Amino acid sequence: MVLVNENFLKLEESYLFAEIARRVETFRASHPKEKLIRLGIGDVTEPLPQAVIQAMHKAVDEMGRRESFHGYAPDQGYDFLRETIVKNDYETRGIHVDMDEIFVSDGAKCDTGNIGDILAQGNRVALTDPVYPVYVDTNRMAGRSIAYLPSTAENGFRPPLPDEPADVIYLCYPNNPTGTTLPREELKRWVDYALENRSLILYDAAYEAYIRQADVPHSIYEIEGARRVAIEFRSFSKTAGFTGQRCAFTVVPHELEGYTAAGKQIALHGLWSRRTSTKFNGVSYVTQRGAQAVYSPEGQAQVKATVDYYMENARILREGLQACGWEVYGGTDAPYIWLRTPRGVSSWEFFGQLLSKLHIVGTPGVGFGPSGEGYLRLTAFGRREDTLEATERLRKF
Ligand code: MLT
Repeated sequence: MVLVNENFLKLEESYLFAEIARRVETFRASHPKEKLIRLGIGDVTEPLPQAVIQAMHKAVDEMGRRESFHGYAPDQGYDFLRETIVKNDYETRGIHVDMDEIFVSDGAKCDTGNIGDILAQGNRVALTDPVYPVYVDTNRMAGRSIAYLPSTAENGFRPPLPDEPADVIYLCYPNNPTGTTLPREELKRWVDYALENRSLILYDAAYEAYIRQADVPHSIYEIEGARRVAIEFRSFSKTAGFTGQRCAFTVVPHELEGYTAAGKQIALHGLWSRRTSTKFNGVSYVTQRGAQAVYSPEGQAQVKATVDYYMENARILREGLQACGWEVYGGTDAPYIWLRTPRGVSSWEFFGQLLSKLHIVGTPGVGFGPSGEGYLRLTAFGRREDTLEATERLRKF
């Protein structure tokens, strides 16, 4: 008799974005003529940069010739990409990361979910709330207990340090969903906490390309001591339009250690490497060549233009909504707008009102955790004309 993982029975019936897609599809089926503006899931709409396209075309041609064909990619990624990442993302900021500490993967969603493979079930997990639902669901699937750290307008979106000791802490900055950031001295508090409590910080920096303010760290390794307590997740999805292409990377420093129940220290790098070589066969050669091209001078200029385009969308939404009295957060260093719902209207009710009356798809804040109740998230990843139209519809609401 096959036994199921009963932890799955404790999850919400659907993943947040699957539930939204279901409700939108129901609405669309009964209103086929209405023009829906989709500002729900944070999916990019601008095409891949030309530099990426050219590099991928060249790589496809190489795959068509025996002498330049590539089979399985190395588990941790090709050296050409890992060297480029180290040089551009870390050395330029004065951060030391070894090439061997980079693990190229098919997405930060997968990595932040899969990282639990190397962590014991008994770890106490602390999550800022609201939070990217993948962290919650994957820990629930593994049967771990979760403590929420409220991050709301009332505390300036600066979550408190845990009351109870936390072994694993997820931080995502710039934040999904609130679009807020953590200044350097705040991030240092977390690193110091982790050093003191021998905790692990899982730092999701998927949106670092959107940071505008000078005192906001792009990497947790800008903070002294972070190499001993933090794993960092990065992605090409939101930076370079790779949501469909799939390429990301995770940094696991050699100094980072966990413990056995008997107190023996174990390097997490070795465990993640073992897990990766067992369960993953690498990102395709063509995709990794495309990712490498993101760092070329042309690629950098093209990526910057796209990020600027989305940030202009964020400005249009933020300022347009503020001008007519909406309470709005985020959107200055992140591609997300966090909107307070009208008094007394719940997140899902407001989601329903926007869908049925304005034909706008947002993401209900409560889907990201209890402290998201009374909020709704809009993304700046839409097309410009849709962003302008949505702002106009909301203005009149
Ligand atoms: C989001 O909308 O929160 C993200 O697009 C989801 C993701 O990156 O997986």
